[in-house]
Amino acid sequence: MPPERSEQKPAPSVEEDPTYFELHAYTGATKHMGGLRTTKELIELCGIDEGTYVLEIGCGVGATACYMAKEIGCRVLGVDIRPSMIERAKERAAREHVEDRLEFRVADATDLPFEDGLFDAALVESVTTFIEDKTAAIQEYARVLKPGGCAGLNEEIWLKTPPPEEIVDYAAKTWDIHTEIVTLDRWVELLEASGLEITLASPRTFGVMTNVSELARYGCRDFLTLLWRTTKLYFTSAPFRQGST
Ligand SMILES: C[S@@+](CC[C@H](N)C(=O)[O-])C[C@H]1O[C@@H](n2cnc3c(N)ncnc32)[C@H](O)[C@@H]1O
Repeated sequence: MPPERSEQKPAPSVEEDPTYFELHAYTGATKHMGGLRTTKELIELCGIDEGTYVLEIGCGVGATACYMAKEIGCRVLGVDIRPSMIERAKERAAREHVEDRLEFRVADATDLPFEDGLFDAALVESVTTFIEDKTAAIQEYARVLKPGGCAGLNEEIWLKTPPPEEIVDYAAKTWDIHTEIVTLDRWVELLEASGLEITLASPRTFGVMTNVSELARYGCRDFLTLLWRTTKLYFTSAPFRQGST
């Protein structure tokens, strides 16, 4: 017999299981390649303006969604597979007083709970890279867009293949990427197979310093929160201490 609901184990806390994304949700900062600079580029490429209804997939703690609602004035629906991310995104929207233009929901990119053709644009920043079934995810992005709608993706690529094994291991350990990272050509293939027409696909390289600057979009308050929560976790979580030494 399946266990009664009340007998089911609750999800482990971040103290018990400080995985990469749970840590990001806990500290309140998620990121993608290029930070705010590439977000602005994607917004421009997708022609997002005040009248655009945007779906942000894998919105993390909601920094891009809040930015769009605040700076562009458009309506945004942000989804993420992790309830902890959605909780943080809602907190951010309340703090930034943009709740009237924003909605956040827990949803899986490979099975979006929306009707066909609902959105004018879909923004996806460093999300599909982490998804095993990339075809299913991209088909969903295409499905929920209106005819002529625009999908803007910023995803990790290998510049050369096959990548050295130690780098694959490093990516798995450091960024929790346990699926195949693909080349730019493969991304284009996947996007075209879902019926999307490619207008631009451009590779970029980022150095260590750019990586650090990805967090520059967060303000002083966010950094203090991040510092405080990380310090607290260090003293309350043995698995975190073991992982960070
Ligand atoms: C590297 S973070 C980027 C977050 C955000 N886009 C940003 O740039 O700050 C990747 C995000 O994708 C989310 N994610 C991973 N798999 C997902 C899926 N199948 N459906 C929806 N979100 C997913 C993670 O929970 C995480 O918030």
